[in-house]
Amino acid sequence: MKTNLSLSNPAEVETECLVVIVLDRAEKNRGDKERPDKDKPQVSIETADAAVKDAAADVIAGGEVTGKAFETTLLHRPAKLKAKRLLLLGGGKAKTFSAFDLRRLAGAAVRTLKAKGLRSFAFLAPEVGLKAEDAVRAIVEGAFVGNFDPDYYKSDRKDQKIDALTVVARGDQAKLQQAVDEARIVGESQNFTRDLVNEPSNRMTPTILADRAKKMAAEVGLKCEVYGADKIKELKMGAFWSVAQGSDEPPTLIVLRYEPAGAPEKPVLGLVGKGITFDTGGISIKPSDGMEKMKYDMAGGATMIGAMRAIALLKPNLKITAIILATENMPSGKAQKPGDVQIAMSGKSIEIINTDAEGRLVLADGLFYARQLGCTHLIDAATLTGAVVVALGSINAGIFANDDAMYDRFSHALDKAGEKMWRMPLDDEYKEIIRSNIADIVNSGGRWGGAITAAMFLKEFAEETPWLHLDIAGTAWTEEQKPWIAKGPSGIALRSLVEFARDFADSKG
Ligand code: BES
Ligand code: MN
Ligand code: ZN
Repeated sequence: MKTNLSLSNPAEVETECLVVIVLDRAEKNRGDKERPDKDKPQVSIETADAAVKDAAADVIAGGEVTGKAFETTLLHRPAKLKAKRLLLLGGGKAKTFSAFDLRRLAGAAVRTLKAKGLRSFAFLAPEVGLKAEDAVRAIVEGAFVGNFDPDYYKSDRKDQKIDALTVVARGDQAKLQQAVDEARIVGESQNFTRDLVNEPSNRMTPTILADRAKKMAAEVGLKCEVYGADKIKELKMGAFWSVAQGSDEPPTLIVLRYEPAGAPEKPVLGLVGKGITFDTGGISIKPSDGMEKMKYDMAGGATMIGAMRAIALLKPNLKITAIILATENMPSGKAQKPGDVQIAMSGKSIEIINTDAEGRLVLADGLFYARQLGCTHLIDAATLTGAVVVALGSINAGIFANDDAMYDRFSHALDKAGEKMWRMPLDDEYKEIIRSNIADIVNSGGRWGGAITAAMFLKEFAEETPWLHLDIAGTAWTEEQKPWIAKGPSGIALRSLVEFARDFADSKG
């Protein structure tokens, strides 16, 4: 999708459709009987442009437009506008309106208009308590999210896409243009990740994932090394190998390095991604119902690959290394069995209670290896537990931290990126649950507090290194389509990771 910036008057913009936000400025009804009108919507069209206001005046006066979130009203040949159509897009209550809402509205505009066969449109940035650059950024990022559809293999695929978006805004042109360009990089990278996650496991093996990482790395100027079974064994990655040994499909260890000239030696940010291209559960096999979804068990890895793409193009002044552990988790005559003991790269011994708790095994070696490669700060992303879905549903991802300062920084990045994660605890008491009788640690703490015991397991391998763990099992795949996003891979966490990296670079550690 091409992205253009226009500083013209909205009425002057020649486009297939001009999208304008409509908000409800009514005060909340507090049961005031004296003023029964109080909760009636007070619709306000978010522009100072008199011609746009005039064009919408009748339909607003008619009461048909309420400003309710995602409500759409399409007018054809609006008087006095150069646009062929005017789409009034409800944005909800003015009082709470934020960049978070705007991002989703832009996605909804894309999805509404592409379904009507339009290929281009213009979106007017609202001026409600938002900096113009932030509004522009949210619009472009949200539009990319909305433009993705997963129906690749349908022979009658409509391939409806918006080809060109014009953002209409007022402000400093250079700053606005920079916001457009940066947001496009982030949006394209998020969709790059979603493409990887969307592929079924027969078309996204560990080898193919590595090839895609290599190709991307060559395009954007990143170093990429891909290792196979020999190197995994040579590095004594016993935990990673214990999962990989059961599959005929060769595993890959993908290392992407971003080392800009002039970056300080430290800090080095390490991004570690779970890349299980299919999770059958192994010998502790999963029920067949819904198992097809386990093709997205490499979402954490794909997120790190996409984040590195954005980082390489945005060029923060900070060294960053990404490590992706890619393998299938399969039952076979070579597969590990419950009760087996494995020695991780760090030297810790692990008693395998459940072969379906494989994500933490591959990450254990990934986190340790990242530290060996000199990473001073770690973030991992993984579709790690069903338990995090029980705890937080599909609204928030789970975030765990062994370092409050790093968490605070990430929390700020989440706000800026418009993503939701909820911090979960890591009290020492939980460690009791993953004690083993015969080894240092077990790989499954059972049902209760399952997302936390999984994170406690990882913490054993991050040790003292400041570390964040993002459990995206409930959020990496959107189960039902929403006005702003298709059903399918969401690309969650990428924007926050990129935002974090940029902010971390600016602060010089
Ligand atoms: N990949 C799954 C977690 C998952 C569940 C991802 C639902 C996406 C949606 C993970 O490898 C797994 O199987 N976890 C087990 C751990 C248990 C055996 C301790 C789980 O959550 O049931
Ligand atoms: Mn599993
Ligand atoms: Zn898994």
